[in-house]
Amino acid sequence: MLKEQEQGWLNDVIDRISTKMDWVSEKSKHKIPYTTINGTHDNRIVDNPTGTETDEINWWTNGFWGGMMWLMYHETGNEKYKEIAQISEKELNRCFDEFYGLHHDVGFMWLPTSVANYKVTQNPESRKRAMHAAVLLAGRFNLAGGFIRAWNDLEGSDTRGWAIIDCMFNIPLLYWASEETGDPRFKQIAMKHADTAMTAFVRADGSVNHIVEFDPFEGGVIRSYGGQGYEEGSSWTRGQTWALYGYMMSYIHTQKDDYLQTAKRIANYFIANIPADGVIPVDFRQPKEPKLEDDTAAAIAACGLIEIAKAVGEHEKDLYLGAALKLLKTLDSSRIDWTTGSDSLVQFGSAAYHSANHHHAIIYGDYYFMEAIFKLKGNDLYLW
Ligand code: GLY
Repeated sequence: MLKEQEQGWLNDVIDRISTKMDWVSEKSKHKIPYTTINGTHDNRIVDNPTGTETDEINWWTNGFWGGMMWLMYHETGNEKYKEIAQISEKELNRCFDEFYGLHHDVGFMWLPTSVANYKVTQNPESRKRAMHAAVLLAGRFNLAGGFIRAWNDLEGSDTRGWAIIDCMFNIPLLYWASEETGDPRFKQIAMKHADTAMTAFVRADGSVNHIVEFDPFEGGVIRSYGGQGYEEGSSWTRGQTWALYGYMMSYIHTQKDDYLQTAKRIANYFIANIPADGVIPVDFRQPKEPKLEDDTAAAIAACGLIEIAKAVGEHEKDLYLGAALKLLKTLDSSRIDWTTGSDSLVQFGSAAYHSANHHHAIIYGDYYFMEAIFKLKGNDLYLW
């Protein structure tokens, strides 16, 4: 899908990813990493090493390491990547026993692990895990409001009516479940959620809300929240990318044109807001100082932009592909550690605008950078 002059750059990046993953995978073989501590992957399999909720086995990012290993297995055919992916998938079984820590993010956790394993190996155990996760997700649907409930009870807040834009990445698990079983209920729930979010989350200018609260008994929007962005009404960049790529996923699974048009509207807004240096802030509407960035958003956006480029005609393709290349080249040249000094690739992630820490490695930055690069090559393993 690339012009000839870009092909050399792409091949070089793939070589560097392969070199880095070769040693990182060995070093972190028995871990499920979220970030790095002094350059070394942490490990979410060990519960609560620092006593925060992000240390838990059911933390929402725990599928990405397995996903990275499946991407590498698909790219190289090296059995070690398959084995490492399967180690982390088995560790996640504990989440089903604990149950209460599970919520809308089961798609993020089991699409890149069990669904991936099942797609590649037809392992029946993986199919069972993925179906368990899909049923849990379907069970979170609120019939009055037409949305999938986010999270479980949060201290100090009644979240029974909360939905979040990130969930656009979880509903592909429901599309998969319908495709796998032939039962339309899962897809019906996914589409109803996507339709609700199209009006309740996506604003006229193509920006999106992070959290919307519905009346959980009667339906209807009560209000929105800034969530992980700067404030209510702002534009949390990773949320924009969950919506951008999320609507493309819904389009890929359903071919409903509204979803493609919505993805394009969000993408056009995103592209218009990419700063000249290609570095993505945590929120497009944050104050000028401090200059907080979230490079994980750049990687996720690139994936969605490439998918849009594949779906539109020749006259529009360059807009989306060009923006994706700008983001990926900025990451490659100034935001990725290609050395052995860090176990992770992308170094400047920010979980949320108001987090205590910013500009650190987060596993999904690496996952989506790799996915985008393999998409450009044209033989990616589509895990969503
Ligand atoms: N919950 C998804 C995110 O933090 O982006």
